[in-house]
Order: sequence, then C-alpha cells, then structure tokens
Amino acid sequence: MSAATGTAGNSIVITNIGELATPIGFGPPRGRQAMGHVEVTKDAVVLARDGIIAWVGTRAGFEAAPELAAAARDLPVLDAGGGAVIPGFVDSHTHFVFGGFRDEEFLWRAGGLPYMEIHRRGGGIRTSMKATRAARVEELVASGRKRLGKMLALGVTTVEGKSGYGLDLDTELRQLQAMQLLSASQPIDIVPTFLGPHSTPPEFEGRASDYMDFVIAEVLPAVKAQGYARFCDVFCERNVFELADSRRYLEAAAGLGFGLKLHADEIERIGGAGLAAELGATSADHLLKADPADIEKMAKAGVVATNLPLTAFSLREPYANARFMIDSGCALSLASDLNPGSCYSQSFPLIFAIAVLYLGLSLEETLTATTLGAAAALGLADRIGSIEVGKAADLLILDAPSYRHLAYNVGMNQVAKLVKGGKLLS
Ligand code: NIG
Ligand code: FE
Repeated sequence: MSAATGTAGNSIVITNIGELATPIGFGPPRGRQAMGHVEVTKDAVVLARDGIIAWVGTRAGFEAAPELAAAARDLPVLDAGGGAVIPGFVDSHTHFVFGGFRDEEFLWRAGGLPYMEIHRRGGGIRTSMKATRAARVEELVASGRKRLGKMLALGVTTVEGKSGYGLDLDTELRQLQAMQLLSASQPIDIVPTFLGPHSTPPEFEGRASDYMDFVIAEVLPAVKAQGYARFCDVFCERNVFELADSRRYLEAAAGLGFGLKLHADEIERIGGAGLAAELGATSADHLLKADPADIEKMAKAGVVATNLPLTAFSLREPYANARFMIDSGCALSLASDLNPGSCYSQSFPLIFAIAVLYLGLSLEETLTATTLGAAAALGLADRIGSIEVGKAADLLILDAPSYRHLAYNVGMNQVAKLVKGGKLLS
C-alpha cells in the first residue's frame, strides 16, 4: 500500500477507523427494526475499488486475508485517525436552484405573519418566481454551486433538487438545465425533480386548474423530452393544488415514466398522504397534518415518509409524527427542504439535534433516516445510503471517536473528511 493522499482515482483503502456505523440493507428500511438497526464495527477498514465498496470489516479481518492485502497494494491509503465513519448524507428533498432571497419575509414571519398569508398576498413562492425568471442559467448555476458547496462541507453526497420557481415552460426547463450543468461540474450527485405545480403563476391568477391543464399538456411533455428529471412533485395543499388536480397531474407523470413525490398535508389535512399511497408514490413529504390512517396506507404501499423538521422549526409548526410513521411500518427520510422561503437551511447538524431531542427518534433511527431512508426516498437504496459491499463508496470521516457525537455535539458539523465515489474530496 502506498501512503498517498488519495486525491487521484476512485479506489482507496481507509484504515484506522475508530468506529464504523452504518444502517444495513439494499431496499427501503421499513419499520422500527430496520430503521433502528445500525451496525457498529470497531477498528474497521474499508476498501473501495472503482468507486464501489469492495470490502468492509475489522482490521484483524483485513490483515488475516492475504488476498485483501494484495488487492490493496497499489491503492492510496487514507488514515481515519481513529475517527468514526458513517455513510454520506442523502438530502432527499431540496429546492436549491432559485434566484433571489426572501430574508425580508423571514423576518415578517418571525414577527408573526403566517406563511400562507404571505403566499395569499402574492409573496412567498411568487417572489422567488420573479427572481428566478429573471436569472440566466449561469446565475442559477453559480448560486446553486455555492449552496452545494456548503452541503458538501456538511457531508451531503447525494441531493435531490426541484424546479418550481419558474411556473412557466422556459424557466422550469432552465432550472432543470442548471441542475444538469451542476451535475457535470461538481461532485455531489443530483437527483432532479420537476415541480411545475408549486404555485399558480400570475398568468393563471385564481385558475389553478387551468394552470394544471397547461402543465400537463405543455410542460410535462417538454420536461420528458429534455430527458433529465427523474421525479415529478406537486404542492398538494388547500388553496394551492387540491387533490383532484394533484391526482390527474401525478397520473399523467406516472404515464410518462416519472417517479412520484408529493408535498402532502403540510399546512392542512386534505388527504395528500392517502393519494400518495393510492398512486404508489416513491415518497410523500412534509406530512405535518397527515391523517394517521393515511400514514398506515403509506406503510402498506411502501411510500417513504419524508419529514422536513427544519421547515417545521422555521415555520414554528408542530413537528410531523415521525415516531408514529416508523412504528406504522414506513421507511423514514429526514431531509432539509432547503428553499428560499419556508426553510433556508441545509443544516444536517440541526436535523440531528431536532430528531433526537424533539421527535422521539433514536440516534440510530436518525442516522438511518438521513442515509438509507433518504436513499429510499430517491429510489436509490440499492446503490447508496449504507457502507456495504456493492454500494457506492460515499462516506464521511468524523472529527469524533463515535457516531454518538452526531447527537451529543449539538448542532455542530462533525465532518472532517468526505469520500465520494471512492475519491477523497476534503
Ligand atoms: O417545501 N411547501 C411548499 N414548498 C416549499 C416552500 C417553497 C417556498 O416557500 O419557496 C416547501 O416548504
Ligand atoms: Fe419542499
């Protein structure tokens, strides 16, 4: 083995891992048993070849197998310095491509003005729509790149990103194009989602169903032809897009081969979670007001429950009932919802703090929800989200001896080094 820095190529041996902690599985971690199980290996070694994990185990096991030493002979070695190693975080719900900011609205909300009241007055998503329509693709790429850089520093190795601030054909496609350009020019894997029905634009004032007709007839086929988006999403909410419009849009998207996601039952209970179950969506997200009976339907249908605790925190709304979702048999994803309005944060450290201190989740459930559960919310549980042979070598070396510090060192970034696809990035 050569004591190289590991900056070239995508094969590597990581030694001197004080504690390796990972959920286990190649499918969605459904229910209490799978969500709560984190396998912990002391004094571990990981070997990655061509970006894929080829071996994981104890140092003793590694040294006892001569074929492993042979396989590792010419690979760069990364000394974890006794730190803990966990899978890279997967942020399964973000709106990281947008123009402008809404810092003023944040302070209005802090002063007591409700989120939906700002929306009703033509602010909110529409404010971001105006700034995004005015932004050239280069500007969207530049601001998106900065946000992705911050995510990388916090340990995010795969991120989902939504359109939804154009609300017209050109700008929706431009947001997706910005993600495509970013995919090719920075290390985080991006999973693109079309969210044309995020709000009704001024051209369709008071005519949400007409806007939905337009999205289905003209925008969806163009998004399909562009060939980049993998999922379609809708803000299924009272006075935004009601159940019937959400349903026909999602059915059209499914017909074109897209996976389905919903912003469901965030502000009011209108049955979005039940619709997600009925249509076999990959995930239903937010769920603050979801009907428990609909959560049980989601569990049966295998819909991943995505909770966005930073949004509830920022909006000062009661958190979604993550405990009930896991206990009902759902796989849970915890994601940031980074966006310019309801939640301008990509803080995984804060997600850990809220989950463990306020959501009644164990640290193990929280780790699973931010890695394997989040991977399942993107249909990628077979490829990422855990440190197992055959998965992508996306992992984090912590500046701490145990994964327990993810909760214990409250709200602090613990990521010392990040390996993406077998390559040391920091
Ligand atoms: O997930 N709820 C709808 N959409 C976003 C917020 C969008 C915005 O405020 O710009 C969300 O919270
Ligand atoms: Fe969102």
